[in-house]
Formats: sequence, structure tokens, C-alpha cells
Amino acid sequence: MGVDGEDHQTTELDMDKIPEHVAIIMDGNGRWATRQHLPRVAGHKAGMESVKKVAIAASDLGVKVLTLYAFSTENWKRPTSEVSYLMKLPIRFFNTFVPDLVAHNVRVMVMGHIDELPAGTQKAVNQAIADTKDCDGMVLNFALNYGGRDELVGAVKALGQDIQDGKLAPESIDEQAISAHLMTAPLGKLADPDLMIRTSGEERISNFLLWQIAYSELVFVDQSWPDFDGESLKAAISVFQHRHRRFGGLVNK
Ligand code: FPP
Repeated sequence: MGVDGEDHQTTELDMDKIPEHVAIIMDGNGRWATRQHLPRVAGHKAGMESVKKVAIAASDLGVKVLTLYAFSTENWKRPTSEVSYLMKLPIRFFNTFVPDLVAHNVRVMVMGHIDELPAGTQKAVNQAIADTKDCDGMVLNFALNYGGRDELVGAVKALGQDIQDGKLAPESIDEQAISAHLMTAPLGKLADPDLMIRTSGEERISNFLLWQIAYSELVFVDQSWPDFDGESLKAAISVFQHRHRRFGGLVNK
């Protein structure tokens, strides 16, 4: 089912207008599981399968960067058992899925405070980054222990330090200087998502990429993340393609 409740099995896309950077807030795993009388973590496990499907679908469509919100700086507030399950998911994911990613020429990147994750999770993440470093197709960018406000605090601190060290004059701080200190800086001109999708019917940003979504098209879909697949991605991209992006000006882009 598509975002508007219609069947989008035949969604036709304009392949010249595929969003370069798609960001997804993968919401609704817990409710999906509860609806089926399963423990919440079963929803996260099913969510991991959606990550695989959607990553390959995005790569096949020619998306250049897919950023997925996998764990926020606020998710530590969840019960320890759920946090510990979520910390093991990247290990399971990368241990089994890196060969498929390499086969699709997908490069893994991770943004967030990786150093605060359990040692096994850090190891799996770093191994996946190393194993895919020569892939030059789509970037699969996981936000892990990431928070948008925390990211901005880090950028402000770094700029303040540069000023204190005499390397930067306050009046020379501009938008580029701020972008350069964000965790998306390695993505260069692709740092800002063209399209941000949130699943599960909630219409919130939840501290995700606060600076970078200034001009993103936001698409909220009713499906829970475990039900989201390649067709759902195409449906969301179709909605994106019917929007008129003006970036504050008058001319459609
Ligand atoms: C939000 O659903 C989802 C999360 C906090 C975790 C997202 C993680 C995955 C989809 C798996 C990640 C996979 C890899 C490979 C890292 P929720 O639990 O808040 O759902 P609810 O709102 O229904 O409770």
C-alpha cells in the first residue's frame, strides 16, 4: 500500500528526478510487534529485514545517500533489555549482509557517538566501514547514537575552540562553516537530504538532522517500518516528485 492508501505496485518514477539523499526515521517497530502479540524486540528484528530490502531498493533506484535513524541519543532511556537488543542488531546485520552490500557497490558510513557503543557493536560497525570502503555506489549512512541538537552543540564547541585558538574570526562564521562541523560533513554536497520519510503515522522530526532538513521534502507514511519495502520507497519518492521545490525562491527546481 502506498502513502495515500492506494496500491502503488505500478508506481512510475521519473528516473531523472530521483532524490539524491533520502533520510528515513524508521518508526513503529514496537507497535508492529505489539499488534501481533509479539515482544517489542521482534519488531526491531523485522525492522532489520526492512533495512536490507530498502537499502537495496534505494541503491537500485540510484539514490546516492540513504541515511537511516537507527538509534538516537534519547533511545538510551528505553529498558536495558531493549537497548541491549538494539545494540546487537548492527552486529547481526553487518555479519550477514556486508557481502550483499559489496555486491551492490554500497558503502557503509556511520554518524553518531560510536565510541559510547558496546565494544562488539563498535567492532562490527568499524569492520563494515572497512569492508565497504572501496565501494563507490550508494552510501548507506547509519545514524547510531545520534542526536541533532547534540550534533549542533558539538559544532558550536568546535567553532568556539577555533576562535579561542585564533584560527577563526567570529564574523567569518557562515552556513558553510557550520555545515563543515556537522557529522554529515563527509557527505560534502550531498549532506542535506532531499527527502525525509517517517513511517508509522507520527509527524515529528525527533531530533534528526535538524540543520540539514531546512529544505527537505517531508513525507509521512502510515505503514510501520517492518511493513515498509521497496515499493513503499518508490511511493514516497513519487510523492516527492510531485512536490514543487522552491528553496525559498519562485522558480521550481
Ligand atoms: C523506532 O521504532 C525504531 C527504533 C528506535 C530502532 C530502529 C532500528 C531498526 C529498524 C533496526 C536497525 C537495524 C540496523 C541494521 C542498525 P519504535 O520502537 O519507537 O516503535 P514504536 O513507536 O512503535 O514503539
